[in-house]
Amino acid sequence: MLRIAVLISGSGSNLQSIIDNIKENKIDGKIEYVISDRSDAYGIERAKKEKIKTYIIDKKIYRGDISDKILEIINGKVDLVVLAGFLSILKGDLLKIFENKIINIHPSLIPSFCGKGMYGICVHDAVIKSGVKISGCTVHFVSEKVDHGAIIAQSAVKVYFEDTKEILQKRVLKEEHKLLPKVISLISEGKVKVINGKTKIIE
Ligand code: GRF
Repeated sequence: MLRIAVLISGSGSNLQSIIDNIKENKIDGKIEYVISDRSDAYGIERAKKEKIKTYIIDKKIYRGDISDKILEIINGKVDLVVLAGFLSILKGDLLKIFENKIINIHPSLIPSFCGKGMYGICVHDAVIKSGVKISGCTVHFVSEKVDHGAIIAQSAVKVYFEDTKEILQKRVLKEEHKLLPKVISLISEGKVKVINGKTKIIE
């Protein structure tokens, strides 16, 4: 069974999709910890409802020490770290010790519309303004450079002329809720390999 830590900063709808998929036995795993870098993240309530251990590592207090604090909590206790709408940037020993064991979901098709400052609704705003006809979401491993780790899986959605950023966000989020649990399930089955900086899914 895969021991998982989920890191959040907000509503936690992706966290909820992981919880639901575990309950439906679609993931052979257990969420050991939910950690938030904001005290008001609604995802903390979702975790408490499921009696999952929660920690708040407030970014206003811990600033540059967030990664070390997280490492203190999870070191040796989890197999996979899932960033599900987590806004702080990770660094240092945490990234080294958990190399290829931290995944993130990003609400665009990387390498488009990603990198520093590209998060939340800003991503969808940039997508709409650009006029691209396809967007989507990406699950990737986390590395030193923001949104640059090996891509594991992507899901595409159409972008329509009439879309607002909010409408597009909803369409993409629906895909996120399917893609992230699917990737976690593949990892729990040992089906995701990283070879020369690219991933291979073993079917
Ligand atoms: C998602 O769109 C995710 O891709 C992005 O932040 C959002 C988090 O949503 N990184 P939620 O907190 O899971 O509802």
